Amino acid sequence: MSSPVAGPRRLLIRDLEQLATPAPAGAPLRRRELGTVEVTERAYVLCAEGCIESVGTMDDLDVRGDVEELDGRGMCAIPGLVDCHAHVCFAGDRVEEFSLRAAGASYEELHAAGGGILATVEATRAAGEDGLRAAVERHRDWMLRSGTTTFEGKSGYGLDRDTELASLRAIRDGGGVPTFLGAHALPPEFGSADAYLDFVVDEVLPEAALLAEAVDIFVERGAFNVDQARRYLSEAQRLGLELRLHADQFTEAGGVELAIELGARSVDHLEATGEHGVRALGEAEVTAVLLPASALFLDRPMPPARSLVDAGAAVALATDFNPGSAFCESLPLVCSLACTQLGLSPAEALTACTVNAAHVLGRADRKGRLAAGYDADVVLLDAPDWRYLAYHLGGPVVAAVIRGGEAVWRR
Ligand code: NIG
Ligand code: FE
Repeated sequence: MSSPVAGPRRLLIRDLEQLATPAPAGAPLRRRELGTVEVTERAYVLCAEGCIESVGTMDDLDVRGDVEELDGRGMCAIPGLVDCHAHVCFAGDRVEEFSLRAAGASYEELHAAGGGILATVEATRAAGEDGLRAAVERHRDWMLRSGTTTFEGKSGYGLDRDTELASLRAIRDGGGVPTFLGAHALPPEFGSADAYLDFVVDEVLPEAALLAEAVDIFVERGAFNVDQARRYLSEAQRLGLELRLHADQFTEAGGVELAIELGARSVDHLEATGEHGVRALGEAEVTAVLLPASALFLDRPMPPARSLVDAGAAVALATDFNPGSAFCESLPLVCSLACTQLGLSPAEALTACTVNAAHVLGRADRKGRLAAGYDADVVLLDAPDWRYLAYHLGGPVVAAVIRGGEAVWRR
């Protein structure tokens, strides 16, 4: 919101222990650049009118005129985190299913028995548009407290026209970047995946394309196959949507090759991806979005992150926040998992959930770096070294969050 006071609204974050930001130019970053984080000791960030005016060392600070100050002593600044894969629009929970899984039931068995995603579909359909808006805001606020200033929101728990469109509106109005995931599962009213996709293409996609920036589909046994996905995604692409795929979560079903063939923005999950897929992604434009909290939550193998990075793939990290496979909104925790389970360095993890994730959402020109001209989205870590982001496993590492130049949350 603009202020009635004359002159630019400015915020100076001063006396920071460190400022850490990904390599200065380009997106998505790969190989060496993925692991190149620039660190400035005893630093400041100056924000004006929602953007970063300058960053530098305290010795170089030269600021005139009115400015509000925030004391950064004992803290480190990193860019606002970007969660590029999150299912934020759902009602109800799956805590009962969680208990059943803890007792040995598998996620796929529960899904096949009509639980899983379809249980959340029932609750989401019953919530009404106001209920969905409240849910998105609640989840967004949880994410914010973990340092996420930009988030994607997928629909996909309505699977009917009205609830899917209401979900996209709730995500957009709640400040998220909307992705249409109408092809998430086969709803009970339809006898076949083909019949359901025909309905989605004819009755939902044209309007969804006006609300969403991207489309997504779950390519997996028991969900949609690669031929169905090709037809569906091509239609969405014709309507101007960016393409995203859930692929290789449980089995290699051709989603990686399809993502490359169609020029998708991202292919996400990849827990089951083998050598061939790794090599293909190493040479592709498509970003590989890795979701280690989901693999952990379902006790599944971790995706081949190190091999992907070493092969030259563009890699992003995200939470996969959702009620069934990853009830986790914390990107700092995801960074910890990236370092302990995926073989990434703290620098690679930071780049993967800032500038590379911003690239997946088409916002790398404004989000994901602490540099002049970028949006003034800043996370202050309660830490003497920025690597506490990944090091402080599950700890209260986020001390404050600045979004658009305003301090919106403080511990
Ligand atoms: O990304 N795999 C498909 N969709 C989600 C899970 C959805 C759910 O279990 O509710 C995922 O893991
Ligand atoms: Fe997902």
